[in-house]
Amino acid sequence: MIIEKIAESKFNDSVFNSTVFGKEFTDHMLIAHYKDGKWDEPKIVPYGPISMTPAAMSFHYGQTIFEGMKAYKNDNEEVFIFRPEKNFERFNLSAARLNMPQIPKEIFIDGLEAIIDLDRQWVPKDYGTSLYIRPVMFATEEAVSARASNEFIFAILLAYAPNYYDKPLSVKIADYYSRSAQGGVGFAKCGGNYAGSFFPTSEAQKDGYDQVIWTDSIEHKYIEEAGTMNVMVRIGNKILTAPTSERILNGVTRDSVLTLAKDSGYEVEVRPVEVQELYDAYKSGELKEVFGCGTAVVITQYDAVGFGEERAQLPTLAEEDSFALQLKKKLKDIQYGLAEDPYGWRIKIEEQA
Ligand SMILES: Cc1ncc(COP(=O)(O)O)c(C=O)c1O
Repeated sequence: MIIEKIAESKFNDSVFNSTVFGKEFTDHMLIAHYKDGKWDEPKIVPYGPISMTPAAMSFHYGQTIFEGMKAYKNDNEEVFIFRPEKNFERFNLSAARLNMPQIPKEIFIDGLEAIIDLDRQWVPKDYGTSLYIRPVMFATEEAVSARASNEFIFAILLAYAPNYYDKPLSVKIADYYSRSAQGGVGFAKCGGNYAGSFFPTSEAQKDGYDQVIWTDSIEHKYIEEAGTMNVMVRIGNKILTAPTSERILNGVTRDSVLTLAKDSGYEVEVRPVEVQELYDAYKSGELKEVFGCGTAVVITQYDAVGFGEERAQLPTLAEEDSFALQLKKKLKDIQYGLAEDPYGWRIKIEEQA
């Protein structure tokens, strides 16, 4: 790996006062180019703009995929990342579905470790804050022709992540728009999935909600996932969540929360969850919690759920009564190196000599 260090670091502590997610980029970025059927040697260079022609195919045909991960620091200045293999596998699943080249582990995983090590002073220490990691691949071939590109850039960018969405959010259950369909690209982390969700989300915001809970595109009968989160509900003392499918992103947080929930003795069911079942549980007082799980937020409680015109207000439970907050703490304590990690999820970023 070629490393070209910045002449003088831009870092100063005020970066950590930012309240905006993903805007304060670190000193460096990793870049690799794919051309003539192969990747060149990745380079870590000072972060900044790159020059691209407006004819680059990703701008026209949306051949672009990404990942989202975080780096955490504990009080001993040790830096960790969380289950990076999962993001690596998912990135290559997204690449295959979008007809893009596979990225080798030596670029993705070794690249992550090298760049985070180099920019380790940018990893904040406060519990709840972290350094967001954005691996991304996009088509760069110069051609306005509707076919797969033959040239790509892979990059890793790092940006400060403050404590995100700490207050409960409200969600509207989709009854018209869809995020994805069977046979489509819902399971891939591709740009178009997000582009297509912004308009329905802004419509939901006009109705007073923060986000949308997507439902199946055929009948809008089953709940699937929310903005950038998988969704779980608690009916009585049981946690329910939809199985992953071609339409749903297979979240690393979802998988981790399910494991922690089962191992902590909560009753968990992974099965299709009907909107009607949720509504009936709300009416009978059995709908205790609805929450989202994702890297950016870890876990977010929803305090209002929109069923058509009806806004169901849920009580905001404190940690002693909330399964969501209890699981959030367990997961964060593992991520931040404060609790035992029996699963081997936490990977330490070693300091290069
Ligand atoms: C659409 C969508 N669903 C779910 C998730 C949660 O996935 P993860 O826990 O891997 O961050 C994300 C965020 O990455 C997402 O964008």
